[in-house]
Parts: sequence; C-alpha cells; structure tokens
Amino acid sequence: MARVNLLDPETLANPYPLYAELRREAPAVQVDPNGMWAVTRFADVVEVLRRVDDFSSEPADDDREKLFENAFGGANIIGSDNPRHDRLRSIMQKRFTPRRLGHLQGRVEDLSRELLASLASDGEFDLVPTYTVPLPVVVIAELLGVEANRVDDFKRWSNALVAIVNSAEGAERQSALAEVGELAKYLSAAAERRRQDPAEDLIGALVAAEKEPGRISAGEVLSYCILLLAAGNETTTNLIGGMISALIDNPDQLALLRDDPSLIPNAVEEGLRYCSPVQGLFRRVLQDTQLNGVTIPAGSRVWVCYASANRDPERFQDPDRFDIKRDCRGHVAFGWGLHFCLGSNLARREARVAISALLPLLCESNFSQAVEWLPSWVIRGPKALVLRKAA
Ligand code: HEM
Repeated sequence: MARVNLLDPETLANPYPLYAELRREAPAVQVDPNGMWAVTRFADVVEVLRRVDDFSSEPADDDREKLFENAFGGANIIGSDNPRHDRLRSIMQKRFTPRRLGHLQGRVEDLSRELLASLASDGEFDLVPTYTVPLPVVVIAELLGVEANRVDDFKRWSNALVAIVNSAEGAERQSALAEVGELAKYLSAAAERRRQDPAEDLIGALVAAEKEPGRISAGEVLSYCILLLAAGNETTTNLIGGMISALIDNPDQLALLRDDPSLIPNAVEEGLRYCSPVQGLFRRVLQDTQLNGVTIPAGSRVWVCYASANRDPERFQDPDRFDIKRDCRGHVAFGWGLHFCLGSNLARREARVAISALLPLLCESNFSQAVEWLPSWVIRGPKALVLRKAA
C-alpha cells in the first residue's frame, strides 16, 4: 500500500476506512506525519502496550518532543517509563478511585442541570460550547483547585497543547507554544499559592508530596498539573459529544436509552469503544524490535491506535455498529496496562451524568447533525452539535 498521511482531510473527516485498510495490511505500517509506524490491530495494540521495555513512553531527546521536560522543568507521567512512572502515578492513584470520586456525583448533576437550564429556551443551540466543553472543564478545575470561571482560558490553553501533540508547524506551533507558556505561568502561580497555603485539592496533594525526599520535583508538579488540566477536559468533552452524535445518528439506540436509562453505563462503554476520543498515542522503540514479524527500526516512533483496535472485527463483532447493549468490555479507549487512564473513573462518572441529564432534551428535539469533526488524528470529537427544539 502507498504511504498514507493521517492528516489528509478525507482521513481526518472519517479515519475508520483507513484504519480498516491498515489492519488488513500488516501488524505495523509506516505512515505520515513523520514516518511513524501505525499499529492498528487489537491484538498488536495490546502487545505494544504490554511490552513496556521494548516500546518506551519517553519522548526522544530533542526539543520538539521533550516539551514537558524542557519548557516546564519536569517530565510528566504519560511520557515516563519506570521507575519514574510509578513514582509519579502513586501520588495521584488513590485520588481517582470510584470511592474518592463519590462526593462528586451531586456536583456533576447540579452542574449539568445548571448548564442545560441556561440553554436558549427556543431556537437553536450548539451543545459543544454550552455543555460538552464547560462540564468537564469546571469539574477538573474544581478538583485541581483553580478558578473554575476561567473556562475559556482553560479551553484555549488545552487546545494549544493538543495542537502541539498534533504536530502543528510554523506559526501555528509558535502561537500554541506561547499559549502553553501562559498556562504554565498560571499553574506555577497556583502551585506557589498552595505551597504557602496548603489545601486538600489535587494541586495541594502534589505540592505536599514535594516535601518527601525524591518523591516529586517542582517541575514535575507543574507538568502534572498541565497534563491533568488538559487530559481532564479535552477527552471527556469529546466522549460526551461523540456519544450525543452517535445517538442522533442511531435513533433506535436513543429510544432504547429513553425507555431504559439503566442502560446508560453500558452505553458510555460503547461510546468509548465506538468514538475513542483518544484515537492514538505514541511509543518509541529504542532498538530494532519485532512486532509479529515486522521489524521496526531503532529510534522509530510508533502510533498505537486505540480507535482502530476498538473497531477490529477480530475482537468486536460488527464493530462499526453503535450498539448500546453489546458486551464491549475489554475496549482499549482508556489504553491498557501500565499507563491505563488515571482519570477513567472520573470520565465515566461525568459522561453518565451528562448523558442522563441530557436524555429528555435529546428525545424531544430535532437535530441538525454535526458535519465537521475536530481536525485532529490524536483527539477526535465533534466541533459543533447543533440542536433544534422540535416545534
Ligand atoms: C473519555 C475520557 C478519557 C479518555 C478516552 C482517556 C484516554 C486515555 C488513554 C488512552 C490513556 C493512555 C495513555 C498511554 O497509553 O500512553 C490515558 C492516560 C491518562 N489519562 Fe486519560 N482519558 C480520559 C479522561 C481522563 C481524565 C478525566 C483524566 C484526569 C483527570 C485523565 C488523565 C490521564 C492521565 C494522568 C493519564 C496517564 C496515566 C499514566 O501514564 O499512567 N484522563 N488516558
């Protein structure tokens, strides 16, 4: 197959046909941008994620990739191998268990209701800026302990981070770097305030860990805060948005949910499988490495495509069908193994509440379907979800 580019507009609009071709082709296929090796079959994706000694999460030793170390003075958890990974993960692990997050249920419900109440009572509204964006941003801001009313700033800053991960070039990259610089300044000041005035929030927990020798450096605290803020909103926004879009596209599934809301938790799992808000992330091979018969040369970047694995017919029957009753356990939308998403319980809780609160409105409205998706091959979700109330 000729070398393909994941950034082609046609692929960005709908990457799934290309993923199917790549799955048929080989366990790993070289693609652009950057001649990365795309791994797209379910079994191979899990194998790469399992072989942490062969497939490293640490960025190459250059300025472009080492943004966190170079610009913020410390590595982040997602870009760390062991032992650093476990050291960083253990600081936050207990904060994201279902039990610790239990107190959030009422707050997320109130927030969903407030946001929905402020929607225009007639005419059209776009659920992305009014609902799917602010809900997770406010929740993660409150958990971190920063001002939740700066939704627009947090969104702008996280978009800049995504642009950098998306391989933005030239002026776009420069402006994204400037935005991320502002974010770093803001969060550094927030961490400094916590050093003076300790608190129980996530930033408070990170700076408290600084006091234990060798546990976490000030640069790592800053990188952690930046990652939590970005990971905590872009992804969940796109899960909720992707699910709304899938329900609009599949009125039979929406009717099932309306008739039996106890299906919501499974519908969220199916939403994760079907939409895969994080389409794929990276690994790096340190020496020539074999993946099921394909040799990947030392120094190569590997793109591990969770979204394709979740649509692999070898693993999920009729995978392109959105079916909220299917057994979709074992999907890899949150990754697998060592780096399995730290915020999975939080994201699930938010998405369940968000869909549940929206259900009555979804059932009584007509929709013009979102036609445009975010132009990203890393994060996928609708840019707009315009909803029109039925007459
Ligand atoms: C639908 C929502 C979400 C999706 C689809 C998602 C997806 C993922 C994936 C695929 C990974 C694995 C990365 C890898 O293998 O390298 C990951 C890791 C991570 N996620 Fe999420 N995520 C979501 C929500 C969140 C939230 C709400 C938070 C935080 C509040 C969060 C924080 C993290 C962190 C810190 C890691 C790194 C874990 C580690 O390296 O050990 N995520 N996420």
